[in-house]
Amino acid sequence: MKIFREPKKLQKWARGRRTAGAKIALVPTMGYLHEGHLSLIAEAKRRGADEIIVSVFVNPVQFGPNEDYDKYPRDEKADLAKCRRAGATAVFFPTPKNMYLDRHSVYVSEEDLSKGLCGARRPGHFRGVCTVVAKLFNLAHPDFAVFGRKDYQQAQVIRRMVRDLNFDLSVVVAPIVREPSGLARSSRNTYLSPAEREMALALSKSLRTVKTGCLVSSERRRVRRMLEKAGLRVDYVEFVDGETLEPVKTTKKGACVLLAAFAGRTRLIDNRVL
Ligand code: PAF
Repeated sequence: MKIFREPKKLQKWARGRRTAGAKIALVPTMGYLHEGHLSLIAEAKRRGADEIIVSVFVNPVQFGPNEDYDKYPRDEKADLAKCRRAGATAVFFPTPKNMYLDRHSVYVSEEDLSKGLCGARRPGHFRGVCTVVAKLFNLAHPDFAVFGRKDYQQAQVIRRMVRDLNFDLSVVVAPIVREPSGLARSSRNTYLSPAEREMALALSKSLRTVKTGCLVSSERRRVRRMLEKAGLRVDYVEFVDGETLEPVKTTKKGACVLLAAFAGRTRLIDNRVL
């Protein structure tokens, strides 16, 4: 397995592999890899990638000033071992300094799907995500890139960026991977105390209770109450069209229920496509 730290070196190698006819998959991550990330690598393998490049980069540009950039968990050694075991062929570990050169001044903003949900609560977040993902696309020359559905809005925003900026690759979105308890796997779960972990189960539990064919206004109230009763501080409970992310009035098939809530100081998200 190759290890790259310099963007230019990755770019040169990936260009060479692509020219030689290799099918390249990119799995962008912020590291502290868990089963969810490993399932993305497995998906890349399943789709016949010759090279699977995993990027591990806690991207400062997508964190707000009062968010958890500094304390975001990092473990390079463990990530390397997991990538190797999972069958990645290359890992990219850049630093903020070599990804964002002095006087970096170009950003990518998606201006429709990013407006609501997490975009409204985390100003600048998707601008940071789009910018780093666009850079990773330019460095890794992937035929396809694999993202997790837990970040539903992110996946839609990236699909739109790929369409609107004519990136020559396809976006693959892999299913949410859950712990046996139902909790969606996330690197941020490591912040949770045992009591918070218990509270957090209300996210997946409440999603499972949502039925199709109901009025959103009453379902939203009911789900919100379930989350609050468990001790969570609700950030949002939204029912949207799965494609446009526009609010829907009834819980129709294909709509998506998206939740964001705080367990203590940890913000967790989850979703379900009906
Ligand atoms: O989903 C993530 O881990 C990040 O937002 C991503 C896509 C790796 C960009 O930093």
